[in-house]
Amino acid sequence: MTLPRIMAAARNGRKKHRDSAIALDGRCRDVAVLANRTPVCLRPVRAGDREALMRGFERLSADSRYRRFFIHKKGLSDDELDFFTVLDGTNHDAVAAFELRDGGVEGGMIGVARFVRVATAATEAEVAVTVVDEFQNQGLGRLMLGRLVECALDVGIRTLRFHFQADNTAMRRFIQKVWPDAAFLVEHGLATARFSIAHVLQPVGHEFGPEKRP
Ligand SMILES: CC(C)(COP(=O)(O)OP(=O)(O)OC[C@H]1O[C@@H](n2cnc3c(N)ncnc32)[C@H](O)[C@@H]1OP(=O)(O)O)[C@@H](O)C(=O)NCCC(=O)NCCS
Repeated sequence: MTLPRIMAAARNGRKKHRDSAIALDGRCRDVAVLANRTPVCLRPVRAGDREALMRGFERLSADSRYRRFFIHKKGLSDDELDFFTVLDGTNHDAVAAFELRDGGVEGGMIGVARFVRVATAATEAEVAVTVVDEFQNQGLGRLMLGRLVECALDVGIRTLRFHFQADNTAMRRFIQKVWPDAAFLVEHGLATARFSIAHVLQPVGHEFGPEKRP
């Protein structure tokens, strides 16, 4: 989707329908291109994504799993798969990226960005981003975060926070790049970054501009 189209959608206050991301013929509607020119499909996570999520997890390196879950994790339990795929779209939502197969049909899941609203702060949400190793550093995390911010703004979230290991330099650089004004706090090996999205119109692809919402 181009920047003008997303801006128009934001202006109309049009809420994305979870099931409209894939056309009736199975073709992906939101296609983006990574820095290495690989096309990917972006859409909200749905309850039917359990298998895709599990396969995506299996493609993560041990280090990426540790960075995401803070433990050396071998797999995802049924309860975790439910939690990660059965989303209300208001307090918990997620955007996933998929490889794009011939004919524009989605393939394997290669990344997820999700937010969970903070119980004690109605306009704040905690965010996690994970990209399968072979697709890292190609702009995918930034793309998914852009789509996620759009969803978060729609449901009244105005501040995002990330928790990550203090020595996770990739994540720190990632946040600094997409949000140079983010505030960082480091305590006991855990880093927290917080930033406001209140004045973001729409971060798209490699543009993450602090433009005002209409
Ligand atoms: C952190 C992570 C989500 C970043 O996603 P990504 O798709 O690789 O990041 P992008 O390609 O969108 O990069 C955006 C910016 O971050 C920076 N960045 C990303 N990975 C980096 C790395 N390994 N080293 C230094 N900078 C990095 C780049 O400078 C890039 O900016 P640029 O394009 O202007 O150069 C990804 O590395 C990942 O999934 N890591 C494992 C899980 C994890 O650590 N999650 C965080 C805890 S929730």
